Amino acid sequence: MFTELGCGITIADCGWQSNHHEIYISNYRLAGARICIGYSDEPNCALPRDRFQQIGAAIVMHAPFSSKLPNVGTTIFTVMSQLADDCEAINLSQGFPSFDPPAALIDRMEHYLRTGANQYAPMPGVPGLRQAIADKISTLQRRSVDVDTEITVCTGATEGLFSAIQAIVRAGDEVIVFDPAYDSYEPAITLAGGRTRHIPLTISDDGFDFRIDWQRLQDNLNDKTRLVIVNFPHNPTGAILGADDLQQLAETLRNSPAYLLSDEVYEHIVFDGEPHRSLLSHEELWEKSLVVSSFGKTFHATGWKIGFCTAPATLSAEFRKVHQFTTFAVNTPAQHAIADFLQSNPEFYAQLPDFYARRRDYFCQLLETSKFRLKPTRSTFFQILDYGDISDETDVILAKRWTREIGVASIPLSVFCEDSFTGTRLRFCFAKDEATLADAAQRLSQL
Ligand SMILES: Cc1ncc(COP(=O)(O)O)c(C=O)c1O
Repeated sequence: MFTELGCGITIADCGWQSNHHEIYISNYRLAGARICIGYSDEPNCALPRDRFQQIGAAIVMHAPFSSKLPNVGTTIFTVMSQLADDCEAINLSQGFPSFDPPAALIDRMEHYLRTGANQYAPMPGVPGLRQAIADKISTLQRRSVDVDTEITVCTGATEGLFSAIQAIVRAGDEVIVFDPAYDSYEPAITLAGGRTRHIPLTISDDGFDFRIDWQRLQDNLNDKTRLVIVNFPHNPTGAILGADDLQQLAETLRNSPAYLLSDEVYEHIVFDGEPHRSLLSHEELWEKSLVVSSFGKTFHATGWKIGFCTAPATLSAEFRKVHQFTTFAVNTPAQHAIADFLQSNPEFYAQLPDFYARRRDYFCQLLETSKFRLKPTRSTFFQILDYGDISDETDVILAKRWTREIGVASIPLSVFCEDSFTGTRLRFCFAKDEATLADAAQRLSQL
């Protein structure tokens, strides 16, 4: 019965009432079996722990799992999209377009899939794509970047942000983020052993414009500050950096050892003739910055998960040390396809502001007679609606209730903040076709 030498036996949990088990274990042990007992410290456990040890059983504690991210649940985007699906609601919560990537880009993707570009790409990205990115940066931001050492293609901006944070932040370091802050930053900081300091953006008197409070940033810098994360064009508020903001940022950080991580995934969606002011365009900021971009937003291809990180060679080298063991290399045919498309269709990203401004204006006009307070957003494909004249419920409760009751899903702003200071504001994604926006606006106008 107990003869199979070397056989591993796992007896889960205890709560044993009879010492027969003790005898069994001894016999298993004598027969040379490796015995592993799941032991819980339940008071009614009949066999004391030291007895297990005496008879040579390995003891595995069934203590509650100690999470590295105890405060992290399922991201709000998944929660709201799931709820929208369950309720068959119009999903204006998660930020993805309802239209396809341009046909010419899909053609190039198909071409590369069929002509053998199906194995690992080089770790930093295919040379043609890095060249196309460098050309774009040179044209738009007037910065000449080294194709070999300063651009790394990554698996969407999410991987770029994660790898950058792991590369820069050490245990005990502090990282400053501005609330509302995109939800992937803090878990990555925590995993790196860092501590997140949240600084709320200030809200203008009319309640619509969000800005960095430079004095508050200055006051929060100390010798532990390793990284400051900025995100402009800003999700979820649509705030952009003004002409003097880059200079203010440079002056505030001049005497600090902190690096900068700039999340610029909405770089091509800025409205009303405003330029996108990248940290790449500023000499002093460039030297201490990692700038993360994404083709997902630019080419209506969020599912392709292709982004890139641009940084001076020394920072890029550190970034690549992490990137090569996070994903190593990125989808090969998609990289070739985007490289071709960038070179042959530069007008595509140039027309994006008009493309999205039409949808923004359409959505906002439809809501003009509603009870929501709004100001058309300055960037991104998100519109903030203030429901303060309709309800005083919290934004999380209301976002869920309206998904169920009127069939429109949105994102509550407070989930992006340490202290919910954003009040009665919800974020709606207008990267949808007109019929969807009209249906959603009609439902919202009934409130
Ligand atoms: C501010 C911000 N940063 C990063 C990302 C992630 O981008 P990607 O889909 O390329 O990983 C998003 C996506 O919604 C975003 O809104």
